[in-house]
Parts: sequence; C-alpha cells; structure tokens
Amino acid sequence: MKVSKICCIGAGYVGGPTMAVIAQKCPEITVTVVDINQARIDAWNGEDLDKLPVYEPGLDRVVAEARGRNLFFSTDVNKAIKDAEMIFISVNTPTKTYGEGKGMAADLKWVELCARQIAAASEKNKIVVEKSTLPVRTAQAVKDILDNTGNGLKFQILSNPEFLAEGTAVEDLLDPDRVLIGGDDTPEGREAINALVEIYASWVPKDRILTTNVWSSELSKLTANAFLAQRVSSINAISELCEVTEADVSEVARAIGADSRIGSKFLKASVGFGGSCFQKDILNMVYISRSYGLHEVADYWEQVIKMNDHQKARFAKNIIRSLYNTVNGKKITFLGWAFKKDTNDTRESAAIYVADHLLNEQAQICVYDPKVSAEKIYSDLDYLNTRSSEENRKYVTVVNDPYEACLDSHAIALLTEWDEFVSYDWSKIYNAMLQPAQLFDGRNILPHQELKKLGFRVSAIGKANI
Ligand code: NAI
Repeated sequence: MKVSKICCIGAGYVGGPTMAVIAQKCPEITVTVVDINQARIDAWNGEDLDKLPVYEPGLDRVVAEARGRNLFFSTDVNKAIKDAEMIFISVNTPTKTYGEGKGMAADLKWVELCARQIAAASEKNKIVVEKSTLPVRTAQAVKDILDNTGNGLKFQILSNPEFLAEGTAVEDLLDPDRVLIGGDDTPEGREAINALVEIYASWVPKDRILTTNVWSSELSKLTANAFLAQRVSSINAISELCEVTEADVSEVARAIGADSRIGSKFLKASVGFGGSCFQKDILNMVYISRSYGLHEVADYWEQVIKMNDHQKARFAKNIIRSLYNTVNGKKITFLGWAFKKDTNDTRESAAIYVADHLLNEQAQICVYDPKVSAEKIYSDLDYLNTRSSEENRKYVTVVNDPYEACLDSHAIALLTEWDEFVSYDWSKIYNAMLQPAQLFDGRNILPHQELKKLGFRVSAIGKANI
C-alpha cells in the first residue's frame, strides 16, 4: 500500500518539524498538520518564517520549501482525518496533575480524544500511528476505542516514537540514528508497517529503520529517555563528589568517555536536565513499574529524578551561600531560561526551579534569554503556584540586552548553554557589576580561568579549583 495523504494531529515541537521533513522529502504525499490551537496554526501559516511557533535551526527553510506545496496547517481536524490514509497522533502527554497517578502517570486524555475523533470522522480503513510518547500498552487502549466506537472500519495501530532532540530536530530528522516502527505481526500489521517504512525510506537508509512489535516500540522510547537522563544524573552525582575531592568533572568525563563501552556523549555535568520529556517519561515508567508491583525497578529509576532535583537545589543553595547567606533584595542575573540552547522551549527548565528557590529568598532576578519571551518566563513561574503572579512580576524582570541584564548585578547564573554567552565582552560585564562579582556557570561553558583573571569569583559544576 502506498500512502498519498497523511494527517498529523498536534502541531507542536514534534508534529510540526516531523511532518515538515516528511513533506519535504516526500513531495508526492500531501501532509496536513492539524491542531485545536488556532494561534499555533496561524503561526505555522504566518508569512514571517522567523515567527514559527517552534524555533529550530533550519526549520524555516524546510517549511518554506514544502508549505503550500504538499504541507498544510489547519484547524479542520475532521476533514484532515477523513481525507488521510495514515494519521499520526502527536499530541501532548504530560504528567497527570490530578487524581490517581497524579504527579507520576502520563495523562492520556488528549490521546483518547484523538482516538475517539478518528473513530467518529473516518469513512474508510486507516493506519493510526502513535507518534506521542506513550506508556507501554497504550496501543491496546487506542485500538479498543477505535474498534468499539468507529463505524466498523479496520484500523491498524503502529507505534513510531520520535527520537529527535530539541535544538537539533531538523538535523536529527534528516539523518536519524534509527527510526523505530512497531506493529502487529499479522498480514495487515505487516502491510501497515511496510507502508510507513516506505515513507521513511525516501531518505533514511533501510538498515536504520527498525521494526518490532508494538510493545517493544512503546517501551523503547521510555527506555531511551530513561537511559539518557540517567547518564546526566550519574555524571551530576559525580560532579558533587568532584567538588569535595578536588577532582575535575570534565577531566573525569573525558577519561571515562574514552572507554568505548561508556562513550563520550551525554556526559556533561550541569545544573540538571530539563525539557518536557525526561522527567515525564521516567515518572511514567516508575508508575507503570509500581503498578505491576516492580518496586525495585521503580525505585531504581526514580533515583534519576531525585538526583536531578538535588542538583537544581544544590545550585541555588550554592548561590545563596556564596552571597553571604542572603540574596534578599540582591539583583541576580540569569543568562538563559530555555531548557537547552537552540530552542525556545522552557518546559521543566532548570532555570525555573533555580529561580523559584531564589525568589523564596526574596532575590531580584533579571533574565536574559535570546529566544524566550517575557510572557513565557512569567507563565512558567506562575504555573508553579508558589507565589502570586503580581509577586513574580515584582521580583523578576526580563530584558532584551545581556549587558543591561548584568548591570549592577551581584551575581550571574548561567542556566542555558547558548553559544553567544561565551563571546560576550566579559571585562565590560565585570566592570558593570557590584563587587565581588560572582559568576555561577551551570553549564560549564565559560573560560573559567580567564574570567578569574578578570576578577570574577567563579563557581562551576564539579570544579573545586577555579
Ligand atoms: P506540544 O505540546 O508542543 O504539542 C502538542 C499539540 O497537540 C498542541 O499544540 C495541542 O494543542 C495539540 N492537541 C492536543 N490535543 C489535540 C486534539 N485533540 N486535537 C488536535 N490537536 C491537539 O507537544 P510536543 O512537545 O510536540 O510533544 C508531543 C508528544 O511527542 C509528547 O507525547 C511528547 O512526549 C513526545 N515527544 C516530544 C519530544 C520533544 O522534544 N518535545 C521528543 C520526542 C517525543
């Protein structure tokens, strides 16, 4: 079976870039990305490619090439479902904030709504692809809904989790390490798998397209995120040990990373991981494990999250301690708010939690981030519900100029590894700050010895001797 029309429900960080690349690489397929969020769809359709709702290097060029040709963005969900032979579900699956499993389980409300809408709007057989990250065995629920609420049509469910990393999404999509497709081992299931394999094979070498059963595919995505986050928490645990033993975490990372069994990637100590996925997916895995009575498995993975929370708190406490145990009324500059460089995404960013900690101590925070808006920063803080939104606006200012952000500041906390931070005129910054000028590098990207020579008191992760 050859697919000629695709619909993707959810025009977010995954749905938008993924479908843009499929459309670019498969001009013969019409790809319609739908969302209930009108503003988001308008932004995807907007003239100004600098204002796409998702910032990713290179995405503007991909969208410019395909949009209007075979890539469309719309809010007419039913029509797109009806027309398509293959439907991707790429909606949000956040951690539940209420009821059973609150704070742990994935909230599948939006996925279920999609399944019900697909069942209601379909007039012919379809392939439904889970693109969202879902708890293992979700496909069973999706299938149950489709089979029991539909018009007697046949649906094949595939799992095709997305492994792109924000900040390098386009690169990752164009040249993925692997594409994973899970489906049923039946003639219809194999036909559906092949239809999706053929789409990716337009630009991905076939030996990088892995096929498995549905459950392996669903669980592989959770496992990949758990392993990645675990490496960050592992090196962060070592960073704390480095600080008391005078070992240097970068040297330790280099030494162990040279071992091919360990590998050098994802071994950078930092203020802690963020992003919408790592924490959510691990908590989800912990929840599933507990629900099967696997308490040791659950405890093992939960520790990755505890270590990450500890690292964020430790960073904030170190700032307070270094500023003579009080930050009350002191201006502290945040360089960076996004959870990592080259994205405007702030979900679960370490900056939010470090700010919250310092605001509890009544610090004055001034934020500069090259891509994150003031509204986003305030809404991230408001979402925590720690204090009123008036108080958040009173204690936090957001500016568009890094030098203005550092003016008359007691301390700078670098929270995101944006490249531009390295090339600033640090001597100018030093002279504009209150003395002693303190600098906390939460990403270990700055030239610490040079900054020390300028007069800064530098504190970095996992480095006792600066
Ligand atoms: P997002 O929140 O940016 O986008 C989801 C979109 O779905 C929203 O725009 C929302 O309005 C829309 N939506 C929700 N229900 C809908 C409905 N019934 N009909 C139409 N539209 C609906 O989320 P994001 O980051 O794109 O994540 C989507 C999924 O992909 C999640 O399961 C996430 O875990 C997974 N994922 C995310 C990655 C990332 O880097 N952000 C990477 C890999 C997987």
